[in-house]
Amino acid sequence: MKLARFSRLGFILAAAGSAVGLGNIWKFPYITGEYGGGAFVIVYLITVLLIGFSIMIAEMLIGYLGRRDTVSSFEELAPKHKNIWKFGGFQALAGLFIMIFYSVVIGWIFNYIVTSLTYLPASVKESQAVFTTMLHADFWTQLFYNTLSFGIITYVVHKGIKGGIEKLNFYLMPALMVILAGMFLYATTLGGFSKAVHFMFYPDFSKLTSQAFVVAVGHAFFTLSLGMGAIMTYAASLPKDANLVKSAFWVVFLDTTIAIVAGLMLFTFLYQYGSAPSQGPGLVFISLPAAFYQMGVLGNIFAVLFFVALAFAGLTSSVSLVEPMIQYFIDRFSWSRLKSSLAMGLFFWFLGIFAILSNIDGAKEYLTWGSKSFFDWVDYLTAAVMLPIGGLIMAVFVGFIIPESEVEKVMKPQLKWAYKPWYFSLRYITPLAMFVVMLSLMGVI
Ligand code: PHE
Repeated sequence: MKLARFSRLGFILAAAGSAVGLGNIWKFPYITGEYGGGAFVIVYLITVLLIGFSIMIAEMLIGYLGRRDTVSSFEELAPKHKNIWKFGGFQALAGLFIMIFYSVVIGWIFNYIVTSLTYLPASVKESQAVFTTMLHADFWTQLFYNTLSFGIITYVVHKGIKGGIEKLNFYLMPALMVILAGMFLYATTLGGFSKAVHFMFYPDFSKLTSQAFVVAVGHAFFTLSLGMGAIMTYAASLPKDANLVKSAFWVVFLDTTIAIVAGLMLFTFLYQYGSAPSQGPGLVFISLPAAFYQMGVLGNIFAVLFFVALAFAGLTSSVSLVEPMIQYFIDRFSWSRLKSSLAMGLFFWFLGIFAILSNIDGAKEYLTWGSKSFFDWVDYLTAAVMLPIGGLIMAVFVGFIIPESEVEKVMKPQLKWAYKPWYFSLRYITPLAMFVVMLSLMGVI
């Protein structure tokens, strides 16, 4: 099956669109708040540079050499290892599982875009009540917006790599950057800005627990979209003359810059108008709307723009989370793109109903196991278990299974002197780091 190719810029925008997602604007600020600010940010940045960047190149390489869906790429690059294809499938499946809750959260964002047009909560307490009412009592609103999210995502992916995914990123990514840059510039004029800078960049290492360390490493993977077949699937449609190192650099650079800019902006508004930075997952849905309220009409405009930007970030990531499985069914079972897109879309939409129900009073009792709801289980199993395994597999695959001569042929001219350190880090440093992260997130150590 011949794939339509990205343009070079199209690939960078699409891969950056995949990386820049809810992870950057929703998750990064609140985990920075929870784990103590500057010291956490430093560990995260070091991980992104030392491990994330090198795995990003490795994942691109598998797609670039394999040129097909994740399963076929794994198979083709290691013909002697009969069962290796399963690992490719495992990664693609993990992406589809993430969509179960990712799409529900995008639905919440849609809801907030609409309500913020005319209403903002006057206090954090009121804001909390609004959010929990939606979460625990309003099944239909969540279902409605989740269905909208399913519709948009499925429509875009059914249009294909060029006509759908590349185009979406071509419009949404610049729009997202303009909105964030505008809000960021405004934030720099406020008194709270210097407090935000201090909070994010002044490291207090006494606050750095071992758990914070693990969360930082796990988040570096999540935010760079690694280990889920997303980057690999996109890279299968790279033009032949693409430079993987340069592309990976741009993706990492944009992802990191946007996370920092979003964090600084959010904390500025919070310091200026209200609550403390450590608010957990409700940070952007609870604390932020209450802070915007203090700004009057400007607050409504900012709130709408902010949630629009968040929705854009979520949508460009979503298409990369479903595309690996879509590509798999097209490649291996000769399904049409429409059929494959619809089937994958309906899969996450349908299970999304249970994710929503698992937070609804009266239903959640049946959808909770241990201390976690179905929603939380999907989040936990994908981010804490499947994703680090995916990262580990990729490092081992490029480090030990693909013949070194093949890796060297492509990577040495691009990496030059950095080739040897990169290869060494893939073989030894990354697997070890991922293994430790995995054990620790699973609570074994
Ligand atoms: N990187 C995305 C985010 O930060 C999430 C994602 C993970 C997307 C894995 C694709 C693959 O929200």
